[in-house]
Amino acid sequence: MNSFSFFMPTRVFVGSGCVKENAALFGELGKKAFVISYKIPGRFYAMEDVADVLAQHGIDHIVEDEIEENPCVETIVRVAKKGLEAGCDFLIAVGGGGPIDAAKAVGILMNNPEIDPYDMFTNEKLKGLPMIAVPTTAGTGAEVAHWSVITRFDTQTKQAIKPWVHPVYAFLDANYLMSMPLRLTRATALDALGHCIESYVSTASNPYSRGLCETGFRLFAKTTDALRKGEFTLETREYQMVISLLGGMANNQTGTCLPHGMSYALTHNKHIPHGLACALLEGEYLRIFKNKELVTHIVNECGFKDVDEFADFIAEVLKDIKLDVTYEELEGYAREFAEQKHRFARHPEPAGYDEVLQIYTRSLLR
Ligand SMILES: [Fe+2]
Repeated sequence: MNSFSFFMPTRVFVGSGCVKENAALFGELGKKAFVISYKIPGRFYAMEDVADVLAQHGIDHIVEDEIEENPCVETIVRVAKKGLEAGCDFLIAVGGGGPIDAAKAVGILMNNPEIDPYDMFTNEKLKGLPMIAVPTTAGTGAEVAHWSVITRFDTQTKQAIKPWVHPVYAFLDANYLMSMPLRLTRATALDALGHCIESYVSTASNPYSRGLCETGFRLFAKTTDALRKGEFTLETREYQMVISLLGGMANNQTGTCLPHGMSYALTHNKHIPHGLACALLEGEYLRIFKNKELVTHIVNECGFKDVDEFADFIAEVLKDIKLDVTYEELEGYAREFAEQKHRFARHPEPAGYDEVLQIYTRSLLR
């Protein structure tokens, strides 16, 4: 068995109305809040609840709602400057993985205004400001993940910052997911499942992380009909929120495996959103395994009779996604990926260029 330790200091609340029910906790973290979010069409119930709580407790705040999907260093620097100028001393991230990851990095720069912003990629000792996460999607697990992934234009990559940053509180209210568009729902749900799958098979897994993933698989089985039909009850949304939470906690132990690493080429070159890029690859990823017993166990727990049924399900729920990519481009992505040997470190079987190309082509040239 792998030796392991776990550290999950975020106090997580799950349930309808949990933001307002725990309003008193907001005032514990500071005097002036910096609310970090993005713009969405229609009513933004999570933002309304947070604004009500802050008003009710007389907590001054400012809002930054121009966070892009994959926040870059330049955004983090701009937003941190705004927060410092306003005298904010804690952060509230409201949104998907973008705002939550941005808030983690902004907190580091606000708390260490003297550093070079790129030090956050190398200096693990940096500490951030206290923060609260209010997720409004169910995919990333960023509300409990200890990392924050930031886009770097200087190296043309996405990179995790070095210090561990856990929110102090995370409030998971599935009502905030009810108006999520179907395409985003499917992509984020499969991203969350991918976190559980890739963590479960990882060479770094342990009994604790595998237990989290197995619970995620069993909850996923309760959501497959809804994902097919595109009709979601509050209960289904709650399951999705918890799968994301469990995947985040499991990923803290293990990181991810091949599909996540392979997805970056699709996001970078084809501008496919992260969740979708990973989701597209998960079915064919399981097909390359020689350990059929392991794969059968995973897909059975997820409610499928075999890996073919699982891969067909992925293809069915993502059938509307049209990706304009050629075989030659996929060969290029596979070659570049296969050259980075560290990318295979946590995949439990021998694999290389051929397996990577097979996953890409069978997933994307349908
Ligand atoms: Fe992911």
